[in-house]
Amino acid sequence: RNVKRQMACRSDINSFNAPFLAVFESLIPADEEKVKQKQLMMLLEKHVSKEWPEARLHVYGSCANSFGFSKSDIDVCLAMELGNIDKSEILLKLADILQSDNLQNVQALTRARVPIVKLKDPVTGISCDICVNNVLAVVNTKLLRDYAQIDVRLRQLAFIIKHWAKSRGVNETYQGTLSSYAYVLMCIHFLQQRRPAILPCLQGMEITYFTIVDNVECAYFDQVEKLQNFGLRNGESIAQLVWAFFHYWAYCHDYANDVISVRTGSTLSKRAKDWTRRVGNDRHLICIEDPFEVSHDLGRVVDKYSIRVLREEFERAAEIMQYDHNPCVTLFEPY
Ligand code: CTP
Ligand code: MG
Repeated sequence: RNVKRQMACRSDINSFNAPFLAVFESLIPADEEKVKQKQLMMLLEKHVSKEWPEARLHVYGSCANSFGFSKSDIDVCLAMELGNIDKSEILLKLADILQSDNLQNVQALTRARVPIVKLKDPVTGISCDICVNNVLAVVNTKLLRDYAQIDVRLRQLAFIIKHWAKSRGVNETYQGTLSSYAYVLMCIHFLQQRRPAILPCLQGMEITYFTIVDNVECAYFDQVEKLQNFGLRNGESIAQLVWAFFHYWAYCHDYANDVISVRTGSTLSKRAKDWTRRVGNDRHLICIEDPFEVSHDLGRVVDKYSIRVLREEFERAAEIMQYDHNPCVTLFEPY
């Protein structure tokens, strides 16, 4: 590994910029899709406000964080005061209301880890998951969207990494690999580490946005329009960054000792977080600190089998970026 750690990037790397950008462009949702999502949201809002006038609907996840592909499902959060009513009751009621408005496949999954109502809108063909009071997800969605505004290379890189992860079958949390959310945080961390840095650490700056959700303080600098020039001192191209991203996760990250932390713009030690031992199902084989729920390791789904799969995939991708004559195709070959 040490030998590879010294590896210099291939000299023809920039000839792959145009093909990588073409991959990115091909995944961006069209404007009509955004219009359809808004239509479905308006329909849902109509039903919700009739039943619960005080409640609010928020879109979170890929449709709102600017890392969504074309044809993504919409993630929606119903935010309301529950008092002593439980979430399942609300979800069953919601399913009932929506069922009667010729939406398709309305299903309340009240026993899931995150209980939701699932549905499909026959008019737009869009599927949608609605959860109750997952407000931290709404706030971390804003954080990701704000980071994406600072430098276009984040969105380009994250689209390419998500597309790679989906093509290679390593974007399946129920199989022990990582969520899209985790991959985007890995991209942000990586761009914070470039020298000169391409992204700042928003949670280490003056606080312009503050909220407390579920007893968690969420505070950071959100006036990102003032940071438009932040990454300009670094001229790395998208192909160089894709190469360096895989090189980093294949050969440079210290899996045994380090935690990546977007919150601090740096890495922390597993020891400092007490993430050195297996506790219950949390094995901490790859550690990614949630930016707000700091006791939450997004790598906790990874087990001793899937960590091998992941690391082999990072190494495969690094080799392709180094040697393959057509990396923009080979990288995304189905497994
Ligand atoms: N989320 C979270 N904690 C997790 C996983 C997800 O808070 N461990 C929240 C985040 O707000 C994230 C949203 O749930 O934006 C959706 O997660 P995910 O499906 O991983 O990301 P998407 O951006 O929706 O990606 P995809 O296009 O693959 O659906
Ligand atoms: Mg999603």
